[in-house]
Formats: sequence, structure tokens, C-alpha cells
Amino acid sequence: MCGIVAYVGNRESYPVILKGLKRLEYRGYDSSGVAVISDKIEVYKKQGKVAELEESLLGIPMKSTIGIGHTRWATHGEPSDRNAHPHISKSGRIAMIHNGIIENYAALKLELLKKDYTFSSDTDTEVLLNFIEDIRKHNACSLEEAVRIALKRVVGAYVIVLLDLENPDTLIAARKGSPLVIGIGKNEHFLASDASPIIEYTKEVVYINDYELAIVKGNELILKNLGNEVITPFVQKLDMELAAIEKGGFNHFMIKEIFEQPQTIFDCLRGRLDLTRSDIMMAGVEKYIDELKNANRIIIVACGTSWHAGLIAEYIIEELCRIPVEVEYASEFRYRNPIVNKGDVIFAISQSGETADTLVAIERAKEQGAIIFGILNVVGSSIARISHAGAYTHAGPEIGVASTKAFTAQLVVLTMMAIKIAKEKQTISEGRFVQLMEELSAVPDKVAAILKDTYVVERIAAKHATASSFLFLGRGYNFPIALEGALKLKEISYIHAEGYPAAEMKHGPIALVDENLPVLFVATKDAYHQKVISNMQEINARKGKLIAIVSAGDHTIDALTDDIIEVPEADELIAPIINVIPLQLLSYYIGVSRGLDVDKPRNLAKSVTVE
Ligand code: M6R
Repeated sequence: MCGIVAYVGNRESYPVILKGLKRLEYRGYDSSGVAVISDKIEVYKKQGKVAELEESLLGIPMKSTIGIGHTRWATHGEPSDRNAHPHISKSGRIAMIHNGIIENYAALKLELLKKDYTFSSDTDTEVLLNFIEDIRKHNACSLEEAVRIALKRVVGAYVIVLLDLENPDTLIAARKGSPLVIGIGKNEHFLASDASPIIEYTKEVVYINDYELAIVKGNELILKNLGNEVITPFVQKLDMELAAIEKGGFNHFMIKEIFEQPQTIFDCLRGRLDLTRSDIMMAGVEKYIDELKNANRIIIVACGTSWHAGLIAEYIIEELCRIPVEVEYASEFRYRNPIVNKGDVIFAISQSGETADTLVAIERAKEQGAIIFGILNVVGSSIARISHAGAYTHAGPEIGVASTKAFTAQLVVLTMMAIKIAKEKQTISEGRFVQLMEELSAVPDKVAAILKDTYVVERIAAKHATASSFLFLGRGYNFPIALEGALKLKEISYIHAEGYPAAEMKHGPIALVDENLPVLFVATKDAYHQKVISNMQEINARKGKLIAIVSAGDHTIDALTDDIIEVPEADELIAPIINVIPLQLLSYYIGVSRGLDVDKPRNLAKSVTVE
């Protein structure tokens, strides 16, 4: 969370930083700010979105070729102008932006208070900044040296970038646990939380590792470790186009990303699913095939929507591969002393590859000897770098805070992996293997068919947009889809929603049902179909407002409700990838009709890099 951008070079820094902040706003949008150097350090910050900062700065000349900017997701201290970044040191000679959390900030603050430091914000960032300034003062050392000394005392996660009046042509940056990319231009450097602010200017980037310090001028980039040893930067080429991070004619990133799914799913299958040779090619799976097929257990760790993908994978892997699977919230797994044995394989599922809980959970498991397999969207992300192997989802940059195309791509990758392992393990027949491959290859067209006509979903969204609560129900492979439908609606529309296994409803949630409650069933044809119809009858008998997602041509429940969304029929293992699409659309249209900012829902951020 929090987005950081910085620039040093030969152009004016403010326009570069402002544009970068807009691209990173998905990471946090409580407040934003910039700092540039004239004859002093000038700091401008504002509560609210980046557009509000931009407006407040109209007409202010910003003639500086160096600068730092920040868009915030509040941790320490409420969203406000004074807690916004950049922060400025007591002397006014250093400014700093920070993404992460300084866990021992209270102890550091106490030390500074004893030395008569005062603070103008409630943030851990201002404490760290003054701690650095204090070290520089007392050791009469360079800022670089002071940062190095300070970071040895810091507990927590950070990316920091500092602007120094003593060296107005140099930025100092450091990272631990939060992402930092440096773009290399001609006599200029761009620093950012991800590549999106950089892509427009250069494709040459360096991903900074934990415990590394960068000393950056327009024409020079020096990397060092905290022991002051110089490290050779590893320059990589970005595989991303500018168009991928723009809205391309859609009103919101979320709807653009929903509509991209026929293509992203196709991209995810491309080069992997080989129908002519009846094989699935996944380099990471092939490399670790013995460990995977002989795994005693697969433990899946993830958060949010990625955790829902993990639940579906549990059902599929156990069905096809006969390997026991456990699905864990990363935030629980990391703190509860879990048993991880030799022969266990961990799957880490994450769109961003930066989620702090997932990252730490797999570090713990790795220490205990587990093989770590990452199912990730962002290439070169922190989780990618500590995994033994993995498979990218190739969904392209996902900017909308609500995950949509990354989820379907995760399901495609996990399903391909399960089928491949099952084939190698000989737990499925050749016939079933080929059938599932064919089913997968048909998914892009089936998703496109749903997106061709969204009228029914829009009509249902309009009808229920004022509901105060929603229930989502499904069984088997569709139970996690019910959870995902509820999460999407909560995030985007702020309507209270719960997802449940349809049969579990009788054990409590049915008490909520009355004539005001919309109850959505994911009721496509599968082994549970008849049972789900019975559950619908139970809701109908209690006057709940039924909505159903059914297989095309299924008229079994026509008499129970008018709110029926038909989707193309698919094998029950593959159906979740298709069935989630109307739920994504439903939450989007409800959010829009309630006048909400669906790309930036309140209190949320795209990548959760704090615990
Ligand atoms: O980047 P990750 O997949 O690790 O993110 C996990 C969750 O934070 C994420 O899925 C979140 O729940 C989304 N906002 C859901 O739409």
C-alpha cells in the first residue's frame, strides 16, 4: 500500500511525479503529496485523491528537476493533510516518502522526544526521518551513511526515498519488504512502487532487493547493501505496454478488466495447452514434477480473492490428483506455528506478488524446508523472487482494486497445473485429460458470450441496487464462487454481503431471509444441481428474492424467479471460471448505480503490503 514516485534527471520533475501518482493511486488514495527543491525543499500535500492535490497546485511554479511524490493508504495516523507524505525533517533540510510500517517507531520516537524533537504528524515516517537526521547530525556523516545506520535499527517494512538539500542532485532510496523499481533513462532515473509510472519513459529497469540502498543521480545509479558494499545492478527489460495501464475507452478499469477476460484467459492458455500433442507445458511444474506428484500435502496460502481461487484449487486438486490440500489465510498461517513437513509443497497465490502476509507466510514455510510454488501475476514481484518455481497468470496489469481478470487467470493456471500433475501421477485417464483440456480451451469463447450481452445482469443490478444486504450461495466448486461474489459486492458497492455453502444456510443464515433479502444462487448444472434446487425452494418458501445463475437452456427454476442469468454450460471443474463473470458484472453495475468510485473503493488499496 502507498505508492511512491521519484525523479531525478533533466526534465521538470513535477509532471512526471504527478502522472506517476495517478498511475499508482490504486495503491492508496487517502492523501497525496510532492516535494521538490528550489532554494529550499518545498512540500505540497493534500488529503484526498491525487486530483485534489493537482488542483491545489494549479498556478504554482514547480521548477525543479528532482522530486519525490507519494499517494497514501493510512496506517499510522488518520488520513489528513498533516499525515500526508512527503514529510520534512526538523531542520527542513531532508524530505522523505515511505511505503510500509516502522514497527519500533514508538521506541525511536521516545529517544527523539528526549532530545527535544517535536512532531507535526502522527506518522511512523516522520519519526524515522528525524531519526535519520539526528544520526547525520551527531555523526557528522553523509545522508547515505545516516540512512544505513538508521536502517540497522529499524524493525518493519519500508521503501523510503529521501530528498536532501545538501545534495540537490541526488536521491537516496532503500527497501525492505515493500517494492521499489528504478527505471533507467538517458541521464535520468525514475523510482516507483511498480513499473506503471516508468513504462512511458523507459523499459530498462532494476528491481531493488531487500536491504539494498540506491544512491541515484541523473547520470548515475549506485547500489549498495547495508554493509556499504557496492552491488552490480541487474538491469531487466519490461515486458509491458503503455496501453495495458490505460482505460482504453472504458469508464473504469474494473469494467475494462472484466471485458479483457476472453483475451487474458486465452493468453494464459497460450503456449501451455497443446491440444495436438495432448499435453500441457508448464516449465515450473515440469521442473518440480516429482516433488509435486509425490507431495504429501499441498498447502495453499493466499488472501482475499486469491484465497478464493485457492479454495477452488483445493477441490480440483483433491479430485484429480488425490493429494490432500489445505487452504490457509496467509495472515493466519504466518502467526500460528503451522506444521510444515518435508514433502509438503506450498502454493502461494497472489495477483500483486507483494501481499505482505503471503510473503511472510511463505518465508516461514521455506525456512521449514517446503518447496514454494508461486501463482502470480506481477512478473519479478517479491513473492516471485523468493519462490522456488511458479507459473505466471499473464493477465496483464490489473489496476481496478477489485480483482477480476487476475482471479480467472489464477483459476486457469491452477486447473492446468492440477490436470498436468494428475496426468503425470496417472490419477486421471487419458480421455478425461483430453476432455478437460478441450473444456479449458473453450473458456475464452464462453466468457466472450456472456460479455456480448450484459442486459440481464444490468437489469438485475438496477432492481437490487438499493438492497442493504445480500446472500450468495453455491455448492461444491461453486461455493468459493459464492464467496467471491459476496466479496466483490462488499468491496464495490458497500452492501453487506455473505457467501455460504447453500446447504449450510439452514444452520443459521436462513434466519436473515425475508421479502427484502436478495439471495443469489450459483446453480449451474453439476453433481449438486438437484440439491441446490431444493435449497432454492427453501428460500422461495420464506419469500427471499431469488436470483440465479443457471446453465443456458435450464428452465427448472423459471417458476421461482424472473431474475435468471444464463451462462454457457461447462464441465463442473471448469464452470467456476465462467460463473464468476456475471457476479463481477453485477457488483460493478450496482456500484456504479450507487454512484461509487468502483476503481477506488473506500478504505481499500490494491496491494496490501502491510500486515
Ligand atoms: O495481490 P494479492 O492477490 O495477494 O491480493 C490479495 C487480496 O488483497 C486481494 O485479492 C483483495 O481481496 C482484492 N481487493 C479482492 O478484489
